[in-house]
Amino acid sequence: MAATEDHSTTGARPPAYYVTTPIYYVNDRPHLGHAYTTVAGDVLTRWHRQRGENVWYLTGTDEHGQKILRTADAHGVSPQEWCDKLVEEAWKPLWQHLDIANDDFIRTTQQRHTDRVQEFVQDLHDKGEIYKGGYSGPYCVGCEEYKLPGELLPGATEDEKLCPIHKKPVEWLEEENYFFRLSAYGPKLLEFYAANPGFIAPATARNEVLRFVEQGLQDLSISRSTFNWGVPLPWDEKHVLYVWVDALQNYITAAGYGADPERFAELWPASVHLVGKDILRFHAVIWPAMLMAAGLPLPKRVVANGWLMVGGEKMSKSNLTGIAPQDLTSHFGVDAYRYYFLRAIPFGTDGSFSWEDFTARYTSELANDFGNLASRVAAMVGKYHEGVLPAATAAGDAEQAVADGLTKAAGLADLKIGEELDFAAGIAAIFEFVKLVNGYLTEQEPWKVAKDTSEEGRARLATVLYTAAEALRATAVLLNPLMPGTAQKLWDSLGAEEPLGALAAQTIGTVADWGRLPAGVIVTKGDILFPRLEEKPAS
Ligand code: MSP
Repeated sequence: MAATEDHSTTGARPPAYYVTTPIYYVNDRPHLGHAYTTVAGDVLTRWHRQRGENVWYLTGTDEHGQKILRTADAHGVSPQEWCDKLVEEAWKPLWQHLDIANDDFIRTTQQRHTDRVQEFVQDLHDKGEIYKGGYSGPYCVGCEEYKLPGELLPGATEDEKLCPIHKKPVEWLEEENYFFRLSAYGPKLLEFYAANPGFIAPATARNEVLRFVEQGLQDLSISRSTFNWGVPLPWDEKHVLYVWVDALQNYITAAGYGADPERFAELWPASVHLVGKDILRFHAVIWPAMLMAAGLPLPKRVVANGWLMVGGEKMSKSNLTGIAPQDLTSHFGVDAYRYYFLRAIPFGTDGSFSWEDFTARYTSELANDFGNLASRVAAMVGKYHEGVLPAATAAGDAEQAVADGLTKAAGLADLKIGEELDFAAGIAAIFEFVKLVNGYLTEQEPWKVAKDTSEEGRARLATVLYTAAEALRATAVLLNPLMPGTAQKLWDSLGAEEPLGALAAQTIGTVADWGRLPAGVIVTKGDILFPRLEEKPAS
């Protein structure tokens, strides 16, 4: 990464590449849809760490609001007890299980959050951005959002209307509450989008937001007075803050806003907010307007992913299509899980999960193309060179083609994963390289060369084995952000740690420097990277 400022003289750390996930409602346990975004963010941040950048990855939980309160009531426990239990028993363990390397985990019931939230809204109130008024309209508790009458679906009776996302009846709310002057920000937002065309991605998401804002914005109801599970408004404690206005601020409260100016300067503005497409307006309209009102810089990008679908419906707990990630990792393993969703579904579009497709990709791409390559190379170094990697003394055009293929794959993967968040294309580029190495071995036929015991034959064999092992060295580095457990196994089997250091310390910038793996390392067979799958469990 090109540094734009010299921070070495000031002692300040360089601005971080700061990535956030949505903070998840803890009314229920996580399903594949939640894990999808969190894994994507993990791959993105691990990639940037391997570029040698200063990176910060934040995830967390959204714990206030009516949805959580009702769930806790239904279970006969206090909302705080409910949240504590779900966070500790379901959410945090899942991220650990999926090898998510988040740097922080924010919970909106933490005081480090609620104190700063109160200061933030007090500031907006002092600035005249908030006023008292009345509002009535259809409200979806699932979305925690007032809906526009025009977007509702017809229900079972003439009076009943359904939320288009949850397909459940909306409720009619009528309250006196406080409002944020969102309507005043329409023109400023449009100006901002025009000046920052990359702010919202993909293009479909950007267009949707533009159309929405161009229609004119209404002021936003930001408080509730009929229940008290939320952050109290500092100037009127009969009201709690609307859960979304509370939740969005996690991105700054976790970054040290109002508490640690140095850290906040390092982290804010965020580089990427990852969001699902259903919560795009909150992040690309309401959140930037709140920041403008507070006089804070706006995040650099909001990137929306599509939905994982089951049977044509958005996967969710409320329509009973939610699948727990553990149901899949217990069969396919964690790394194959991390691989599959990002490889199979172009980021930004909806995608269907299918057991058959996952099985097919596991077998052909992971086990056959990649896993077999790794075990074949280790086996041949063992068989022909007693496990000691020989030097490539007779490299020619074929070897050059492998090195060139690596340069191309590394460059493309860096652009696609690191910049464009086009994970599927980036992973495809790395696997193209794996295919190229397989093709190289098929052509070179080292098992036949091994029969030629002349000096020339021995030099050829050594060169082919070295080339394949060096290609695997680079593959381990490129796949480390995506499949850290597998990449580490490969790194260990290549004996690379001793001469080259830890896998995570290998940089993307040097991955294509051919010849980094020194001859003489001890190559061992290690575990099979992707074992044959058991029969599909009965469902
Ligand atoms: N708490 C809010 C977010 C606040 S961010 C300041 C929220 N929580 S949520 O738990 O309901 O959803 C969190 C994320 O999960 C959203 O981005 C949503 O799009 C995503 N997903 C939920 N179901 C999904 C799928 N079936 N597929 C992909 N992502 C989906 O909204």
